[in-house]
Amino acid sequence: MRVHIVESYEELSTKAASIVSSQVILKPNSVLGLATGSTPEGMYRNLVQLYKRDLIDFSEVISFNLDEYIGLDANHQQSYTSYMFNNLFNHVNFKEEHINIPIEAEDKLQEFCLKYDKKIERAGGIDLQVLGIGTNGHIGFNEPDNKLKTGTHIVDLAEETIEANSRFFNSKEEVPKQAVSMGMSSIMGSKKILLLASGENKAEAIKNTINGKITTEVPSSLLQLHPDVTIVVDKAAAKLIK
Ligand code: F6R
Repeated sequence: MRVHIVESYEELSTKAASIVSSQVILKPNSVLGLATGSTPEGMYRNLVQLYKRDLIDFSEVISFNLDEYIGLDANHQQSYTSYMFNNLFNHVNFKEEHINIPIEAEDKLQEFCLKYDKKIERAGGIDLQVLGIGTNGHIGFNEPDNKLKTGTHIVDLAEETIEANSRFFNSKEEVPKQAVSMGMSSIMGSKKILLLASGENKAEAIKNTINGKITTEVPSSLLQLHPDVTIVVDKAAAKLIK
């Protein structure tokens, strides 16, 4: 694991965007695994700027998002689909047919999950997977448990995740209780992984990711087994690893 500790969220965002843009410049038809949440917002802002300055071209890039809530319309302002269009896709030259987000009619979800993994496989696998991290060590929505699912699957969100994500909704009751998430093997099968974390509330999870025991109770600790992980954290999130 390569760990970069940076001064601030701004620096984290610039560094993350540089890593993603290097990937795309070196391999224009890269397959990117994308995350949502507050952490990568700055990275997306920087990527949009690089695109506007003609420094990056997304026309051949294929993307697979990590997760999406179940029970929210794709047009809902808190859906991860809206997030991706508002933060990135509406502002750059991604081709609509290259964008993949795990959302489907609820009655077809099981079938959809299998197809999502097959589609990632057919695209040649993920070249660079961007990850945020939950305060409980979840990556994607792979929540701490005594066993983890391998492929894309339906998840019951942990109480802690519902609580954390209630900041985006009017009330905790409005937060969906389930989501579709890539599984651990889709994530671990990526050629490169970029994990981002900002703020003191992520410090414990980052310590456990880097120095902790490898356990399904901290899903991010499994990243210790991956051969090419870059972690970019700001000082606050790195507080317990120094
Ligand atoms: C989002 C995702 C989640 C978030 C995590 C951290 O696509 O997969 O694992 O990365 O919940 O969220 P923020 O960045 O909002 O703290």
